[in-house]
Amino acid sequence: MDVCVIGAGYVGLVTSCSLVHLGHKVVVVEADKHKLEMLRSGECPFYEPGVSELLKSHADGELLSFADNIAEGVKSSEIIFICVGTPPLPSGEPDMSAVVAVARSIGAALDSGRKRIIVNKSTVPVGSGNWVEMLVNQGMQAVQTVPARSAKPDSLSFSVVSNPEFLREGSALHDTFYPDRVVIGSSDAGAINRMRELYRPLIEQTFSPPETAARPAGFAAVPFVVTDLASAEMIKYSANAFLAMKISFANEMAGICERVGADVKEVARGIGLDKRIGTAFLNAGVGWGGSCFGKDVHALIEVAREYSAPTPLLEATISVNKNQRHVAIKKLQEELKIIKGRVIALMGLSFKPDTDDLRDAASLTIASQLIKMGASLRAYDPVSIASCKRLHPELEIDYCHNVQELADGADALVLVTEWAEFQNLDWHRIASSMKNRIIVDGRNVLNKEELKAAGFVYRGIGM
Ligand SMILES: NC(=O)c1ccc[n+]([C@@H]2O[C@H](COP(=O)([O-])OP(=O)(O)OC[C@H]3O[C@@H](n4cnc5c(N)ncnc54)[C@H](O)[C@@H]3O)[C@@H](O)[C@H]2O)c1
Repeated sequence: MDVCVIGAGYVGLVTSCSLVHLGHKVVVVEADKHKLEMLRSGECPFYEPGVSELLKSHADGELLSFADNIAEGVKSSEIIFICVGTPPLPSGEPDMSAVVAVARSIGAALDSGRKRIIVNKSTVPVGSGNWVEMLVNQGMQAVQTVPARSAKPDSLSFSVVSNPEFLREGSALHDTFYPDRVVIGSSDAGAINRMRELYRPLIEQTFSPPETAARPAGFAAVPFVVTDLASAEMIKYSANAFLAMKISFANEMAGICERVGADVKEVARGIGLDKRIGTAFLNAGVGWGGSCFGKDVHALIEVAREYSAPTPLLEATISVNKNQRHVAIKKLQEELKIIKGRVIALMGLSFKPDTDDLRDAASLTIASQLIKMGASLRAYDPVSIASCKRLHPELEIDYCHNVQELADGADALVLVTEWAEFQNLDWHRIASSMKNRIIVDGRNVLNKEELKAAGFVYRGIGM
């Protein structure tokens, strides 16, 4: 099928690569000239395992091509994905300006050649599907020769569908090829059928797995969930709100565990074995971050506010997380007493491992707070140092090349991102080079006994 994907970010580019792998022809439209240049030369503009390899394998341009204008993509496509960003505004509402601009441009580019399906993959407030339809109609009217007021939009020529995205950065390809479900929100039977056709190889798992994303054993089919537009939009927000709430719950339990002498890891294991609860997203730590959880929970609160629906759980989810970012600092204060003049070394910067994404990363809150308190900050991250330097020049951080350099003469290590390489370190060597052997394990992933044996004062979260 002929597809256009607008926005080559984490969602758009991964969607494009996977659709091409399923055999579809995809034109990717990207507004950022620098990103476009990188994509055209076969480079991935961000760090996401496996994406570069897929890009390279389609470098011949036969199925995958790149464009800088929406009209070019729309003209040649039947299915048009909107994958632009919807970042949070200071009010907590999502900034919909990119969606607005794109929807109008799609409208302006539509022709009567064939019916188009406009798919909203960006995470948008409930009701946005209808709104996008209105914006596309406005775009169509703007280019019609008859005066816009009297022009009758040809609403039969397109249909707006919601297809929320659930991928996780760091395992985006795996999540896209082997999702828990594909959700389609629409009341147009024809559009639903075309979307089913688009995803058929994925739903039936008939494609050959790419080298970088092996099919999990026994994975045979994907539920195709068809619902109305508003419910599809609500599914996305509620899923993220629930996951964020689960982590905040674990963190609230961690606070109680510390006081009563329990171990939150044991508690999480014990409750997670209950099938009604499950072990995933029950990890206590320095809190959740990333481009989605905070933005989407805030946006859902704003939607609820418009309808006067109370949201005490959502508000608590955010406030627990906000406080959790400071737990590591409290532990440093308990161990070091004075923070001023201390050398504090952060292990990891990205909001989670296997990505270079720093949006709403806990490391940024912890770093800026410690700098404000007079500490001298160091950091090491396997992939996000360059983006941190570029995006956060205000943070006075000495960036290091590895953990050994990070630890040399430092007063304390704080593990913020649970990169796999932090699991296999020579802790004796690291400890011997430090001024004070203090480690705060902000993700509860290190071996406490091993660290203690190496001479560290080990502080986890919730134990
Ligand atoms: N990143 C995730 O893990 C994730 C997961 C699920 C859903 N989402 C949602 O998906 C959407 C996209 O997220 P993302 O992380 O990919 O964002 P992103 O910021 O990484 O990418 C968005 C891209 O759209 C491009 N763009 C903006 N305006 C454009 C225009 N007019 N024409 C062409 N390109 C344009 C930008 O230059 C950018 O490259 C958001 O609504 C987000 O909430 C993200």
